[in-house]
Amino acid sequence: MFGKRPPGSPDASRTFSAAPATAPGSASVAVRERLKTAAAPRPVALAAAPAARPAGELKPAPARRKAQEPERVGAERSAEYYAIKTTIFNALIDTIDLGQLSRLDNETAADEIRDIVTEIISIKNVAMSIAEQEQLLQDICNDVLGYGPLEPLLARDDIADIMVNGAGHVFIEVNGRVRKTNIKFRDNAQLMNICQRIVSQVGRRVDESSPICDARLADGSRVNVIAPPLALDGPTLTIRKFKKDKLKLSNLVDFGSISPEGARILEIIGACRANVLISGGTGSGKTTLLNCLTGFIGEEERVITCEDAAELQLQQPHVVRLETRPPNLEGSGQVTMRDLVKNCLRMRPERIIVGEVRGPEAFDLLQAMNTGHDGSMGTLHANSPREGLSRLESMITMGGYNLPTKTIREMITGSIDVVIQAARLRDGTRKITHITEVLGMEGDVIITQDLFLYEITGEDADGNILGRHVSTGIARPKFWDRARYFGLEHALAQALDASEA
Ligand SMILES: Nc1ncnc2c1ncn2[C@@H]1O[C@H](COP(=O)(O)OP(=O)(O)OP(=O)(O)O)[C@@H](O)[C@H]1O
Ligand SMILES: [Mg+2]
Repeated sequence: MFGKRPPGSPDASRTFSAAPATAPGSASVAVRERLKTAAAPRPVALAAAPAARPAGELKPAPARRKAQEPERVGAERSAEYYAIKTTIFNALIDTIDLGQLSRLDNETAADEIRDIVTEIISIKNVAMSIAEQEQLLQDICNDVLGYGPLEPLLARDDIADIMVNGAGHVFIEVNGRVRKTNIKFRDNAQLMNICQRIVSQVGRRVDESSPICDARLADGSRVNVIAPPLALDGPTLTIRKFKKDKLKLSNLVDFGSISPEGARILEIIGACRANVLISGGTGSGKTTLLNCLTGFIGEEERVITCEDAAELQLQQPHVVRLETRPPNLEGSGQVTMRDLVKNCLRMRPERIIVGEVRGPEAFDLLQAMNTGHDGSMGTLHANSPREGLSRLESMITMGGYNLPTKTIREMITGSIDVVIQAARLRDGTRKITHITEVLGMEGDVIITQDLFLYEITGEDADGNILGRHVSTGIARPKFWDRARYFGLEHALAQALDASEA
């Protein structure tokens, strides 16, 4: 099920066939029988991890050292630990029937593994403390039943991203900062096997012939795998962890990503059905912001969301969630974002939410915004609101629509009301840096107007960026009439007044 391994390399995915099929209850009897016939037990001692730096090795420069110290996740494992684990692991998979094990629920299977491993440890006469033994049992259970060394990282909710660059390099992003961890895979084969296990759950395969694959974990986390020969240093796995408790606008205010008045303006933009484009770099918080804005959609509105991997969590009762589909192994059956957005229009939507606008679906989204689906929203990758608008233009041009530039721009100005810019600053914090209105055209040029900005004022001694959110002094934004129509103009005036510098 999890693919083939080269012979001799220990792996949980191997389907055990040589051992007689054992009932789960009798597995420990079987293990004793097998181990009796195995080579004479050799005592093995578990040594602590070597701490000394090899002589002659240069210390990293102090400024860089902070970023390079690996974050310790769980206890440190030594080379001896891995050697012992391999020995015990081999004995375990030579003993148990993985086919039978896979039919048990996780808890029973873990108990079974614990019994057998404890027995192997005592028969092989491995010298281990109780704590070390517990660690080994946990690691082996993770390898056999879960995602191996990734398990402790997946269990943490404070991690935003997990990045694995080959077996020996695992990085995480916590609180906006990327840190290396002490987590290691046994080798690239084990890592590849875990990648395989992840993608096989969504019916896909990753190997030399199809080395790129997107998938999703059971908890909704977004996964990308790129394997050798494309990834030169071993399988490369990137996981955007799914946050169980999605951030709300009030959380963004607490983090200083937006001021309370700015949050009020965003709330009004969401509630008064302005068409919104959220622009930002990778991991800048676009999807999070989109999710927050959808919180102000009315309960009675019919909302359709289109995403590549469902990340949005709308709380309204009348929501239809759609997801694109990659081509299958034979290369057919793909359903693109454009297909979904086009289909949406036949589903009587009141608002259309596009997780990420990346290609020709931009045209269909603008059409929808233009034709009575006010309050539609989408995100795109760009570094400023203006760049966002020109990216939108190039997506339409590249989509093969034979339209003059001016027409495309008119379409953009006729559709998008507001562009909100998200950014991850160099100190790791995420900020909403612009709320910008699209005013119209002057000649061939799109005219925009910043309503609200994040001004950087300096940097403190720890390298944290200092700044403030201010309004640019525009008292009557273009969406004023819209706000008035929804009875929100006083709230808008108050929020704008309060954020003047
Ligand atoms: N304002 C914020 N403050 C702190 N953390 C945030 C903030 N916004 C988002 N995050 C966290 O940052 C991570 C990335 O956020 P998100 O998925 O929204 O980014 P994105 O711009 O959509 O990324 P991508 O370009 O990969 O789609 C998530 O773990 C999210 O919880
Ligand atoms: Mg996103």
